[in-house]
Amino acid sequence: MSREWNAALYDQHHRFVADLARDMVSELGPEAGETVLDLGCGSGRMTEWLLEAGAHALGVDPDPKMVEAARARCPGADIRQLDARELGDIRVDSVISNATLHWIPDAEKVVAELARVLTASRGRPSYSGRVVAEFGGHGNIATLREAVKRALARRGQAVDWSKRWYFPRLGEYTSLLERHGFEVSFARWWPRPTQLDDGAAGLKNWVRMFLSDVLAEHATDDFYSEVDDFCRPTLWHSDHWELDYVRLRVHARLSP
Ligand code: BEZ
Repeated sequence: MSREWNAALYDQHHRFVADLARDMVSELGPEAGETVLDLGCGSGRMTEWLLEAGAHALGVDPDPKMVEAARARCPGADIRQLDARELGDIRVDSVISNATLHWIPDAEKVVAELARVLTASRGRPSYSGRVVAEFGGHGNIATLREAVKRALARRGQAVDWSKRWYFPRLGEYTSLLERHGFEVSFARWWPRPTQLDDGAAGLKNWVRMFLSDVLAEHATDDFYSEVDDFCRPTLWHSDHWELDYVRLRVHARLSP
């Protein structure tokens, strides 16, 4: 979670990340005046929808550029630069989180931190202790991961995806929530192939956005061609790439 992203590039090419999860706001159904923690708020699109729904929004993100972008987009929200594993003394009524939890392999720490913050927030007038979250589930971007792993191996570099990303099975994640005192009322795992922008350059642009630190000096045209060649039979569709995203969505509530 410490990597820095280009917020403008992210908004330009990866708008779908937020757009496809907009229904999470209505699933949470915040009441007017309820304070919702937007965990991993990025450039603030979900935060903006929370404000539009009448909620107070506390957006947190570890990336200073995203914090800056979210503050510019959502002057009415409280946006702080914080890591999901150390939320300090914030107090909120409920939590929403999209496309963030897979960036933190130490998932236990995050769930424990959410339980701690919500426990400390009990007694607030609008408190509900609800959590609505979506992130990458088991099998997420498996073809692309394999392609990058092989291309790196050919250059003598190993990569262990489990140290970078956390894509759990549904039962693993719901059990984790339950161990920390949450009651899970809804859980869904589903493949969601997702069209990338930019035609033939789409996969390369995705890899450059999200994996440039892993590729480092290997980020050459040859490298990207190898990745494209491996993925083409499964992920290329006539004139665009469809990335093999798999989602995991949960609704939970901290037990009273
Ligand atoms: C995802 O949304 O599933 C994702 C995004 C970037 C890197 C890895 C996974």
